[in-house]
Amino acid sequence: MLESKAKPSFVLPELPYEENALEPVISARTLSFHHGKHHAGYVTKLNQLVEGSVYAGWPLDEVVKRSAGDPAAKMVFNNAAQAWNHDFYWRSMRPRGGGAPGGALRDAIGRDFGGVSEFRTAFAKAAAGEFGSGWAWLVADKGGTLKIAATDDADTPIVRGERPLLTIDVWEHAYYLDYQNRRPDYIAAWLDNLINWEFAEVNFSTV
Ligand code: FE2
Repeated sequence: MLESKAKPSFVLPELPYEENALEPVISARTLSFHHGKHHAGYVTKLNQLVEGSVYAGWPLDEVVKRSAGDPAAKMVFNNAAQAWNHDFYWRSMRPRGGGAPGGALRDAIGRDFGGVSEFRTAFAKAAAGEFGSGWAWLVADKGGTLKIAATDDADTPIVRGERPLLTIDVWEHAYYLDYQNRRPDYIAAWLDNLINWEFAEVNFSTV
């Protein structure tokens, strides 16, 4: 069929910075494996799974949401959600990040967490406490209240109608080459040096 020769539905997005741009917090070697092997693997597998299926032709976020409620599509969901989560994670970081949010997001964090320092403590606790593989998120719920969410494996807040503002990947592949089992050190360095508050502010502006 012609479809089999069409270009793949999903393409690995380029990193928004060079592989060495997040050093020394995240090494080029980690980013190379994480983006070039893990993220790429999810995209490749997803293209194989959706070809000829009811999920073919849909944008990535729709595949995530539609497959989430389909027990027969667990593999589609896992690979689609991981593809979506990783794209969001790359943009949740930036070289010379860190600091504090500004404007409306700063006010909302004060309202819902008590302040940026309190947010940081709660976010780090959620990320460190996520058992096994998963993610920690800053999200706005359906009412616009900011919350911290932790999700297992490929799970993602977008399937519950929440709006992610930023995320940290706490699968071991995100930090093991640089930090081994010291996940809290990775989280602290990430919050101090990489968190991309500008990205979160843009996301918050559309909530
Ligand atoms: Fe990852």
